[in-house]
Amino acid sequence: MSKTEPAMKRICVLPGDGIGPEVVSCAVRVLGTVAPGLELLNADIGQSALIRHHSCLPDDTLELMRTCDSTLFGAVTSSPDHGYTSPVLTFRKSLDLYANVRPVRSLVRTSSKPAIDIVIVRENSEGLYHQPEAVDAEGVTTHRRVTRHGCERIVDFAIEHARGRKRHGVCCVHKANVLRQSDGLFLDVFRERMATAPDLSAKDQLVDSAAMFLVTEPSRFDVIVTLNLYGDILSDVAAGVAGGLGFAPSGNIGQKHSVFEPAHGSAPDIAGKGVANPTATILAAAMMLDHLGMPREARDVEAAVSETYSSGHLTVDLGGRHGSSSFTDHVVRRMRA
Ligand code: NAI
Ligand code: MG
Repeated sequence: MSKTEPAMKRICVLPGDGIGPEVVSCAVRVLGTVAPGLELLNADIGQSALIRHHSCLPDDTLELMRTCDSTLFGAVTSSPDHGYTSPVLTFRKSLDLYANVRPVRSLVRTSSKPAIDIVIVRENSEGLYHQPEAVDAEGVTTHRRVTRHGCERIVDFAIEHARGRKRHGVCCVHKANVLRQSDGLFLDVFRERMATAPDLSAKDQLVDSAAMFLVTEPSRFDVIVTLNLYGDILSDVAAGVAGGLGFAPSGNIGQKHSVFEPAHGSAPDIAGKGVANPTATILAAAMMLDHLGMPREARDVEAAVSETYSSGHLTVDLGGRHGSSSFTDHVVRRMRA
């Protein structure tokens, strides 16, 4: 290798369960076309890992995620067992992936749904999801932690993300009218930080009415910054407006590590049928390319996906005839052209 040639990037690939392997194989084909220099290393996660390694997140998998430049992940199926800990929450915590970025954009216009083009920046390291629930004789207590540090770093991330993507404004979604201390802290920090960003418009919206406006008038929103649980729920609402969960990619980002995945789960109802929409995972791979400093390749992928839809090649979830692999054939063909 010459001195000027950059080192080959290593990517950990975690197909997981259900439709995970189906959609990840599509994204891997796209990556192989647009960035053949990436080294892709497969590892196990989820129920398939449990069978082979007696753990949903084997130590070797976490170590590979830690040492690779980034990770592409499909989805896992949760266990109904009360003692189960999600491997997704574990890797988000272990790798300190504090920001969950979820862009949602309509790729196909329909008369029944308004166009949507937003980015949800979800706090990913605290809130309701990060402490074990405490069981006592009468019931269960779930702790919800909100720290100033957690609020500051996610709002700062949202500001930087908005600027980097040439977005105009950030809306804080919260429930500070009821959760006065915790969501109140989030809103206070938002106002403080946005006061230092006069180039961006700042507004806030209560989470319940925000859910309604996402469905009826999504053009109200540009970048949304919100707490963990709200971001989880609202990103699926937004995906529904864009056509379904097959359209929402996501990136879990920290100071050192990153994991890119579709926002959806393992979809056991359609697994094995070849009909899962791979768009979210392909666009998650494009987000990963951006993160790795390969914006030209990222734009090529996004353009190929967009053109595939605009030329009328629709996936089964939109009433079209394309399954995962024939849709990907069209995307790959466009990138080669
Ligand atoms: P889900 O996101 O897997 O599916 C919800 C609905 O959307 C289903 O009808 C499914 O067929 C459809 N859908 C999802 N992805 C699609 C795609 N790419 N193309 C077309 N249709 C798609 O959520 P659900 O059913 O609530 O959960 C199923 C399993 O996934 C559960 O075990 C859950 O815990 C797990 N899960 C895992 C996640 C992860 O690994 N990050 C995230 C969310 C859920
Ligand atoms: Mg979710």
